[in-house]
Amino acid sequence: MASRYQSLKGFRDTLPEESLRWQWLEGIIRDQMRRYGYGELRLPLVESTELFSRGVGEGTDVVSKEMYSFLDKSDPPESLTLRPELTAGAVRAWIEHEIGKNQGLTKWYYVGPAFRYEQPQSGRYRQFTTFGIELIGSPLPEADAEVILAGVGLIESLGIRNYRLRLNSLGMPEERAAYRVALLEFLNARRSQLSQESIRRMESNPLRVLDSKKEEDVAATADAPKILDFLADESRAHFNRVRGLLDDAGVQYVVDHKLVRGLDYYTRTAFEFQGLDLGAQDALGGGGRYDGLIEQLGGPATPAIGFGFGIDRLLLAAEAAGAIPNQSAALDVFVVGLGDSARAWAVQTTRLIRQAGLAADCDLLGRSMKAQMREANRRNARHVVIAGDNELAAGKAQLKDMQGHAQQEVELGDLLNVIQSREEGG
Ligand code: HAM
Repeated sequence: MASRYQSLKGFRDTLPEESLRWQWLEGIIRDQMRRYGYGELRLPLVESTELFSRGVGEGTDVVSKEMYSFLDKSDPPESLTLRPELTAGAVRAWIEHEIGKNQGLTKWYYVGPAFRYEQPQSGRYRQFTTFGIELIGSPLPEADAEVILAGVGLIESLGIRNYRLRLNSLGMPEERAAYRVALLEFLNARRSQLSQESIRRMESNPLRVLDSKKEEDVAATADAPKILDFLADESRAHFNRVRGLLDDAGVQYVVDHKLVRGLDYYTRTAFEFQGLDLGAQDALGGGGRYDGLIEQLGGPATPAIGFGFGIDRLLLAAEAAGAIPNQSAALDVFVVGLGDSARAWAVQTTRLIRQAGLAADCDLLGRSMKAQMREANRRNARHVVIAGDNELAAGKAQLKDMQGHAQQEVELGDLLNVIQSREEGG
């Protein structure tokens, strides 16, 4: 027997029933983006490896351990990478198409797959889907508030109530450099109490030590210096203004000086939405300001802020909240034709009903009347049209209402009208 294949570890299929849930969620996202005035961006799945190593940062886990990179077939070969996130690609596109020349502010959103070589577990996959927005061009705290409020709005319209918004400021590069020195000094003095992983991280990315969930790291860093104490006046005022805007909107949040984010491009505001019904992988989404990234990738110095959500996790959280509506791909009409010419008639009638905008199907397996009725039931058909060769010769068919159970004889020429008037009547 030929060998059977399985999907790769961390990669999943979404079958039609499950797809209905994705469509529900994506419908809410698209409706929200229409209301908030964001245009949809569709980006390539593959970019040059350098875009991510420069954009996201060599010292990050994403770049150093998790990228799907490969050499293509060009001569000399080029190193390409399956996108591990979409902000770098969005910025590349913004620079490439010189979007800033024609408009002061850009509001983009995207939904699509990203790839990270991580250990799969509940809520963590090697291919996952992200929904993100990028607001490019404004340095103002009002822009930060707009983006965070869009995240709050999304979570709430999905019916997720059990979540926490964590907020921090990571300062500008010079503020963070001073903080890094102080933090390193603090960590060095407690080296023996830290986990091996944190000791390793201290060299490349000491702020990430604060992010560790390991008990010994949490205990050792309880009194670590706080980045908020290293902010100069401008960054501090910016942060306070963002907080004030969230307060005015009645949004609950916690200021968490240990929130550092896993990507290097952030400046000032950083935030994360934590799903309290999820397991270890509880970040529903996160983002922040990245005022230096566009210039770093060769564009004009331009401030920006955005977020990314994991759609897989949003669905898990919406499910835990019991917020996902029951949906089935219900059929309006099932057409049952019994006999040779009735089967041909069923094909034509199904086509007419579909052309009229209703969902219709007929049997394609030559099944018995009983089996066709069973199929109509399985498909939740609202109406069933039944005809055998003799009825057709007399120009008639039976129309059965599967909810009210009433059955009526209908002239073939009137069939569509009768079905439509029943549909309109509910
Ligand atoms: P991120 O925090 O790396 O940010 O990823 C965003 C979200 O993607 C996470 O909060 C999580 O829900 C989801 N996610 C990440 N990795 C996985 C995984 N392996 N499996 C399932 N879900 C995952 C970014 O990617 C930034 N680009 C966000 C951003 C946009 N910042 C500014 N603009």
